Amino acid sequence: MDANRVYVFDTTLRDGEQVPGCQLNTVEKIQVAKSLELLGVDVIEAGFPISSPGDFNSVVEISKAVTWPVICALSRAVEKDIDVAAQALQHAHRKRIHTGIGTSDYHIRYKFASTREEILERAVRAVKYAKKYVEDVEFYAEDAGRTDNEFLARVVEAVIKAGATVVNIPDTTGYCLPQEYGEKIKYLCDHVAGIENAIISTHCHNDLGMATANTMAGLLNGARQCEVTINGIGERAGNTALEEIVMILKSHKDIDLHTNVNTQKIYPLSRMVSSLMNMPVQPNKAIVGKNAFAHSSGIHQDGVLKDTSTYEIIDPTDVGIDKNSIVLTARSGHAALKFRLKNLGVNLTDERLDEVYEEFLKLADKKKVLHDDDILMLAGADRGMGHHIKVDWLQATSGIGMRPVASIGLDIAGEKFEAAATGNGPVDASINALRQIIRRQVTINEFTIQGVTKGSDDCCKVHMQVESEGRVYYGFGASTDIVTASIEAYVDCINKM
Ligand code: KIV
Ligand code: ZN
Repeated sequence: MDANRVYVFDTTLRDGEQVPGCQLNTVEKIQVAKSLELLGVDVIEAGFPISSPGDFNSVVEISKAVTWPVICALSRAVEKDIDVAAQALQHAHRKRIHTGIGTSDYHIRYKFASTREEILERAVRAVKYAKKYVEDVEFYAEDAGRTDNEFLARVVEAVIKAGATVVNIPDTTGYCLPQEYGEKIKYLCDHVAGIENAIISTHCHNDLGMATANTMAGLLNGARQCEVTINGIGERAGNTALEEIVMILKSHKDIDLHTNVNTQKIYPLSRMVSSLMNMPVQPNKAIVGKNAFAHSSGIHQDGVLKDTSTYEIIDPTDVGIDKNSIVLTARSGHAALKFRLKNLGVNLTDERLDEVYEEFLKLADKKKVLHDDDILMLAGADRGMGHHIKVDWLQATSGIGMRPVASIGLDIAGEKFEAAATGNGPVDASINALRQIIRRQVTINEFTIQGVTKGSDDCCKVHMQVESEGRVYYGFGASTDIVTASIEAYVDCINKM
């Protein structure tokens, strides 16, 4: 075994997908899983099968679609969970069950009303039970970041003895300092008898902005698997970003640790995940943000023009940023669009490609040059198909010295409705008009409008979170027209109710 090899465990489709509003359907998950396989990750955590029939089905289908990486299914330390995880993994070429339980005193006392001894027994029982189904069993000690090291070492030793092949040490709440987390991993390496029989895994959350630093501290102190997500997505402040760890290890030759990741596939996959999950990447995000390689100050530009090594520590082409990529315009053909989508990891049926091409031409008429984000947006734009409520037409007028007014025509399951209203702006007026038809109490909690690329002819994406009768819904809209995109997002929410 190569002692310097770091195994990359991707949990975009499990921990990442737990983010409210980011849920993918099975077809989209397969698309991401296949791209992860091409990226070269070692393990894909495909879901938490007991949590819903949808998750179960996704694990089944990903197991069939993917060959090389290990497919992992999450479970609690509960026999029924493990049974269902094993069932979902039945078609996987290489499979792993990821089971575990909270080990911090917070979890033991408040979540389980239990004792350390009882938790230790349950952990061992779960691993032994999972071993009946699969050879490869990973154990997670939830909230290990806040677990007393001595007790953690006892748990880790016991589960390895019970057959765990990987032990995951999650900093579930993102509380640890890098030094503290590194010392925790070192403590386990130094104090657990039999530690050489298992791989130690990091799993860090970013609540205090330290997920990447903590993961690196873990790897530098003996961990050899890192649990990560594309773009660092995940609940709350997210998980450790795959691209950051992989590029740290690639750039720092002094560390002498390496992964199997083909780094040139990072950027296209980052765009794909962002687009499918409707989760924008912050412009200053390390490695994959829009500004990550943009030198704007005069001094920097001057230096980079003389020699890129002055201010660039990573060659953008190393992460798949293709500076010379073909520009797509209204004159581009099917083949160019297909080629670009393929490079971005999207393979469409001929029929779907025809539909996307038609939309592409309409957008190219409005926008002249289309960028990757525009194209990914078009490729994902059939998600609203099958909606019960559709907008037939919308007209909104606004300007200086006049009261904004809007009128709208809706098709609700084949029946036509029309209404008009005023508001404090064209979006408000349009939503007020729509509310006259759909008389349901809906509160908008979040409303973000973001340009896809640049220019006044740009497409915009609208993300909306609304609340109705105590439940929260997420909607998405995209258009070159801000009012249209906003109404699409609102109608997307209503359709989900
Ligand atoms: O953050 C965490 O503790 C987890 C475990 C379920 C592995 O995601
Ligand atoms: Zn987690």
